[in-house]
Amino acid sequence: LRPQDLEGRRVLISAGGTREPLDPVRYLGNRSSGRQGVALAEAARSRGAAVTLVAAHLEVPAPAGVVVERVGTAREIEASLRAHAASHDTIIMAAAVADFRPRAVAEEKIKKDASEGGLSLELERTPDIIAGLSEHRAPGQRIVGFAAETASDEDALLALGAAKARRKGVDLLVLNRVGWAEGFGTEDNAVIVLDATGVELARVAGDKLSVAHRILDVIP
Ligand code: C5P
Repeated sequence: LRPQDLEGRRVLISAGGTREPLDPVRYLGNRSSGRQGVALAEAARSRGAAVTLVAAHLEVPAPAGVVVERVGTAREIEASLRAHAASHDTIIMAAAVADFRPRAVAEEKIKKDASEGGLSLELERTPDIIAGLSEHRAPGQRIVGFAAETASDEDALLALGAAKARRKGVDLLVLNRVGWAEGFGTEDNAVIVLDATGVELARVAGDKLSVAHRILDVIP
């Protein structure tokens, strides 16, 4: 039996990949499976926390015993997190949120015959949700961010992670290398946990549930 060391804690977790519509039948998405975020929800619940899972597109089922709110786009994930942030003492932002979305969504399906030479899409930036949440955080609230990077080597990865931890104002940043074969969609994960200033706190590798438990162990 797990220790109930998170009893009394209220943990808000986002997971999965957002999908930004282009037209009524198409979207821009990403390869996040939601597995690591779902494992965090499962791990926190099994240790006694009350968990709210804000779920974008998941390729795995949401765990039992947690409150699940389904969302699709970056805008929806932001609205849901803002609505729930104040009632949770810990926010873990594991979702892969679109950094860009189509500036306009076509009312009708985009037709290929109207664009013989190809098609250009105009994209706009989405707001950085976690940076906004950490700016307005309640006293004592802990905020954990993720960073999935395709860095060429470990020094580059750590430098990107440290800069990101500081820029986003998070208490912890969970850094992992992703690529065509790593990170997204896999059963296992290997992460480096950085503190708010970018200093390395832990390295964890294993199945996503054990990684989840170790991440929960280092949250202050
Ligand atoms: O900047 P980058 O997208 O690499 O940051 C990743 C972290 O920021 C993740 O925790 C992700 O959930 C969060 N994020 C966000 N809003 C965005 C993009 C990413 O909160 N628009």
